Amino acid sequence: MEAIEISPEVAERIRRARRAVFFTGAGVSRESGLATFRGDGGLWESRRPEELATPQAFARHPDTVWRWYAWRFHQAAAAEPNPAHLAIASFEGRFPSSLVVTQNVDGLHRRAGSQRILELHGTLVEATCHSCGRRRPMGEAVAQSADAPPRCPCGGLFRPAVVWFGEALPPAVLADAHEEAQRADLFVSIGTSGVVYPAAGLIEVAHRAGALLVEVNPEPTPFSSLAALRFAEPAGLAVPRLLETIERCRSQA
Ligand code: APR
Repeated sequence: MEAIEISPEVAERIRRARRAVFFTGAGVSRESGLATFRGDGGLWESRRPEELATPQAFARHPDTVWRWYAWRFHQAAAAEPNPAHLAIASFEGRFPSSLVVTQNVDGLHRRAGSQRILELHGTLVEATCHSCGRRRPMGEAVAQSADAPPRCPCGGLFRPAVVWFGEALPPAVLADAHEEAQRADLFVSIGTSGVVYPAAGLIEVAHRAGALLVEVNPEPTPFSSLAALRFAEPAGLAVPRLLETIERCRSQA
């Protein structure tokens, strides 16, 4: 694997780093065959998020929304973690503190073996009752009813346990992510366009708090100029190389 040229200052900061945060978006799962939301072939290129990913859309046409998430559930279930997910998971034991903060709902970080994960936008692996909050496996709910959201014993409708536009992120998860971003020495932003808040705000929080910012994205983002290291290539290639470089820095006394 071709070594990455980094400045002595960056190498020194990597050597001294104790806390790493991997902040991921849809791009990290692109090479697992899952579409991103924006950009060429993005899910929102041919669909309107207001019609599929809001509580209002679910109230107006629950069957359409349910069928669309059932389709995404099957896509995610059929996908496999790629070298980026696997490299991030393998890093967990090798750094004093390494954590994944993800906007993704596909569950691939967990399937790759990552343990410490904050899911800012919920998960597609579970369904929750829109009325009482009861949870159950999404696979079971879709198997029970593929075309319409199944009913909860409370009478409410089950929905995917994801955060829709206009809904608040889970407060405890967001607070933990904010604290981790503030305490990070190394903040690696992978495969996110950085346009959806409050999640994207974590990049600013980490940078303002002095973290070394690394960005992995074939396309520039609003945060590219803040990155000390930038990989303009697919995550499946860049992340293993980045982690190898970090290992090399840390092995040099
Ligand atoms: N490797 C790394 N990055 C990639 C790759 C790849 N193989 N392929 C595409 N990308 C980049 C794109 O250039 C883009 O900047 O991934 C980014 C994906 O951006 P979005 O589709 O906007 O996804 P994301 O940033 O995760 O969206 C945030 O928006 O729709 C909501 O809730 C949804 O969590 C999502 C949030």
